[in-house]
Amino acid sequence: MVYLDNSATTQPDPEVIRVMSDVMRDIYGNPSSLHGLGGKAERLLKQARETVARILGVSPQSLVFTSGGTEANNTAIKGVAYQHRGRGRHLITTQVEHAAVYEVCRQLEKWGWEVTYLPVDQQGRVRPEDVAAALQEDTVLVSVMHVNNEMGTVQPIPEIGRLLQDYPKVLFHVDAVQSIGKLEVRPREWGVDLMSFSGHKFHGPKGVGCLYVREGVTLSPLLVGGGQEGGFRSGTQNMPGIVGFTKAAVLAEQRRAEAVPRMYRWKQEMIEAVTDRLQDVRINGDTSEKGGAPHILSLSFPGLKSEVIVHALEEKGVAVSSKSACSSKGEEPSRVLKAMGLDDETAVGSIRISTGADNRDEDIQRGIEALTAVIPRLQHVMKGGS
Ligand SMILES: Cc1ncc(COP(=O)(O)O)c(C=O)c1O
Repeated sequence: MVYLDNSATTQPDPEVIRVMSDVMRDIYGNPSSLHGLGGKAERLLKQARETVARILGVSPQSLVFTSGGTEANNTAIKGVAYQHRGRGRHLITTQVEHAAVYEVCRQLEKWGWEVTYLPVDQQGRVRPEDVAAALQEDTVLVSVMHVNNEMGTVQPIPEIGRLLQDYPKVLFHVDAVQSIGKLEVRPREWGVDLMSFSGHKFHGPKGVGCLYVREGVTLSPLLVGGGQEGGFRSGTQNMPGIVGFTKAAVLAEQRRAEAVPRMYRWKQEMIEAVTDRLQDVRINGDTSEKGGAPHILSLSFPGLKSEVIVHALEEKGVAVSSKSACSSKGEEPSRVLKAMGLDDETAVGSIRISTGADNRDEDIQRGIEALTAVIPRLQHVMKGGS
């Protein structure tokens, strides 16, 4: 199988699997225990935190390990909303966020908060001036993702961070789950207060993530108990997961300079192939190197159904996605693509192809061959041919 669904999840790196099994076997102590095995685990946890902090250019104390991107987003958004509810109950986000932000905001609305969902342009990008215009006296949080998981457009995070410097009481959260290993991430330089990450998106394990919480930021924790992770996230730390997350982050950063140009080249090759060889195709999002992530390509074929395309490609041995994996079983056209101005018919005929650092040139060629064979056949059938 040619795996081109790396935005949904990635294959864990063999090195990651090795360090995780070493930790499970040899360093099984609880990092909070006082004896030697606990001490070993505690030292390992400290090292992992310092390593991730170095990669992100932040202090080790500002990192909170979580059970993934969803928990990091929930902790950031609900945690800030609840902590600062006395000051204000207004939040700002965008119409193109992942469900792990969008649904949190919807839940907060049900609980009495007010949320502004900012529109995006045709490439799926929010305008910093719209963020500025949406700010109210009672705004406590702005949450904007870095790389969009459905079409790869990169949001203007440093610009938004810069304008929010004039509003020191408004906290800034960024869902950067799709970024590590593909784009540089600099929360401190960008004026970001909270930033979410997830291990399984960069060849690490599932069920482990991390939330950057700038020192000085206060939030009400979702999980209380033993007070681990600086009190932001109670529960005995998932040591194999954290070590695997860290190893994967190190490898992703080491490989980034070599992998990213390759991924942009693949994206360009796929765009050229589909525009030259297929009819009635729309390419979604910003595909430039400056404005789009290297690994995600969103294509629409109006008149076709994404599920049908995904299954037809699978028969040819190629795995892609209909939209974001978390929502791909839903019947509804993608909320995110519709926010960019796609009509229902175009949105339901959309697929996402996403490459990973471990793909090879042959995978892309096989993907292109499968796509250029499958699409004209399906279009012919839809037009009443047999
Ligand atoms: C942009 C974005 N945010 C959050 C998540 C959720 O992360 P996790 O699967 O680790 O909970 C995902 C994963 O699908 C994502 O792509």
